[in-house]
Amino acid sequence: MATKTVLITGATRGIGRGIALGFAAAGYQVYGTGRASTTLSTGSSGNDWAKEKGIVLKQADVSDQPAMAAIMKEIQEKHGRLDCLINNAGVASNTPASGLDDDEIAKIIDTNFKAVFQCCQSYYKMQRKSGGGCIINISSVLGIVGTSLASVYSGTKGAVISMTKALAIEWANSGFRVNAICPGFIDTDMTEMIKKREAVYQKMLEYIPLKRLGTPEDLAAPALMLASDGASYITGQIIVVDGGLTAQ
Ligand SMILES: NC(=O)c1ccc[n+]([C@@H]2O[C@H](COP(=O)([O-])OP(=O)(O)OC[C@H]3O[C@@H](n4cnc5c(N)ncnc54)[C@H](OP(=O)(O)O)[C@@H]3O)[C@@H](O)[C@H]2O)c1
Repeated sequence: MATKTVLITGATRGIGRGIALGFAAAGYQVYGTGRASTTLSTGSSGNDWAKEKGIVLKQADVSDQPAMAAIMKEIQEKHGRLDCLINNAGVASNTPASGLDDDEIAKIIDTNFKAVFQCCQSYYKMQRKSGGGCIINISSVLGIVGTSLASVYSGTKGAVISMTKALAIEWANSGFRVNAICPGFIDTDMTEMIKKREAVYQKMLEYIPLKRLGTPEDLAAPALMLASDGASYITGQIIVVDGGLTAQ
């Protein structure tokens, strides 16, 4: 059987890296992207972890659609097809709603929503005539429930959920499955600022039924399940991976 391929945006750190390692362990040829040259270069803080597992990391901003489309095309030309696209790259903000300026609003919307949509679009255009494919969008529990200091971020994550359902329906006839995963609070650079505030951190742990933050690796198995042939009848669905947070 041909080796399956996956492209994961924002795979140099955090959740994307956890998912990349899970797919590599499952035998996929993994491609990932990121922007920072420090995490893409070799060396102690670099991408040696990826090289060891045969994971190929490429430098590209998800907002640069021609660059993203070119990476997808390169994978298709080399391996015959891109079996799965995982739109994971995202940025957070803890600016109060009243303080968000145009630049910050644009950055959050462009990265978390517009780029996700355009990557879906590029992938669809590339493979619509060759059997379709599988898209997994990484949203957030903050796309489902509200909290303070996350207004525009929550809006983009809610929009990703709605878009996932809409694309699942629009592209079902072309053989595409489109699903989303909503992580709860996961231990990555994005949640570092919460961990630094001990009282807030302890309160959060109390509120999570499983009493711990998730790890990036906790997202790998749900993503692998959605990408598998066994999930061929699952589309337009939102899987929540949050230690029970939103079940309360
Ligand atoms: N951590 C959580 O608790 C949590 C919860 C729910 C949802 N999420 C979502 O999960 C996803 C990953 O979060 P994380 O916690 O792993 O974040 P993270 O630790 O900050 O890592 C973000 C990754 O995305 C890349 N990235 C950011 N902006 C990019 C851009 N414009 N173009 C290309 N790559 C970009 C980063 O690499 P560079 O900086 O090198 O570009 C990095 O690899 C995000 O969509 C986030 O909203 C996270």
